[in-house]
Amino acid sequence: MKILVTGGAGYIGSHTCVELLERGYEVVVLDNYYNSCAVSVERVEKITGKKIALYEGDVRDRVMLDKIFTEHKIDCVIHFAGLKAVGESCAKPVMYYDNNIGGTLALVEVMQKHNCKKIIFSSSATVYGDPEVLPLTETCKTGGTTNPYGTSKLFQERILSDLYDADNSWTVILLRYFNPVGAHESGLIGEDPQGIPNNLTPYIAKVAIGELKEIGVFGNDYPTPDGTGVRDYIHVVDLAKGHVSAIDGVKGSGVFVYNLGTGIGYSVLDVIHAFEKACGRKLPYVIKPRRAGDIAACYADASKAKKELGWQAEYGIDDMCASLWKWQSMNPKGYKS
Ligand code: UD1
Repeated sequence: MKILVTGGAGYIGSHTCVELLERGYEVVVLDNYYNSCAVSVERVEKITGKKIALYEGDVRDRVMLDKIFTEHKIDCVIHFAGLKAVGESCAKPVMYYDNNIGGTLALVEVMQKHNCKKIIFSSSATVYGDPEVLPLTETCKTGGTTNPYGTSKLFQERILSDLYDADNSWTVILLRYFNPVGAHESGLIGEDPQGIPNNLTPYIAKVAIGELKEIGVFGNDYPTPDGTGVRDYIHVVDLAKGHVSAIDGVKGSGVFVYNLGTGIGYSVLDVIHAFEKACGRKLPYVIKPRRAGDIAACYADASKAKKELGWQAEYGIDDMCASLWKWQSMNPKGYKS
């Protein structure tokens, strides 16, 4: 079976390619390297000893998509390609809607033309907005997103669901990721944020390596056990495996929604302390004001994926931090090292 992975050179995409190749799937990658580079694809080939058919291009480029679908008989698409920085999305909303929604529209149009009607979409827990109840189940209300990035995920879910309503032969799988962290055990692939990281764990890793001075903890007055924000951190390898389980486990057509999380919430301070264990030293941090748009707590009820796909996260927070530290130590400047 042949899978097209859009954004396959990126953080989650590259880890998913490893899992697909290791289970015998053939992989075609389309990536414009906006927030990634071809080195990650070479590393995936090194880890697995298998080849990837690689195309450099934008997922909005219908001519490029048509070429790929003409040259390969694609059975299923995993659609990662998109922009994902929350702050940037507030500053450049049109760019975000154009890339993310435009990309999905172009993709499904060309898929339809080539009669490929199975898509796995890289969605996010951000579609739940500020949760009314925890843990979050797939039936919880969506909406109330606080930034264009999150809204673009919500819209893309809606577009794909409408597509199924209009043509019941589609299989649409919406995977809502919680907070992916960590790296492949080889230390060869991992998250490689450009500039100063926005997300917590890459920021901690840069403090641990000495590139940044101290961690800023955004608020310690939330209604959580230690006052800092609580999230459901999931090892990126578990997340990658969730995609393979979705391909294998979903039978027939329909719209299928799954949370991919561990079901466990950790606070910012918990994560800092887990990382201190991994790197073997104390990490400096200061309490700062809350970050605009942040919520107090967010974690998954991931039982649906377990029941229906037989998937469940296997790694814990210590594994996540240890693997991130290995990647960071082996590649202090990311893929440019
Ligand atoms: C963010 C996005 C979310 C996206 C996800 C991808 C926002 C509001 N949401 O989630 O839409 O899907 O990234 O991974 O940005 N924190 C600090 N100091 C830091 C960075 C973060 O204390 O330097 C805290 C945050 O306040 C939060 C937790 O760490 O409590 C996690 O933050 P982050 O890694 O940015 O992820 P989210 O905000 O949960």
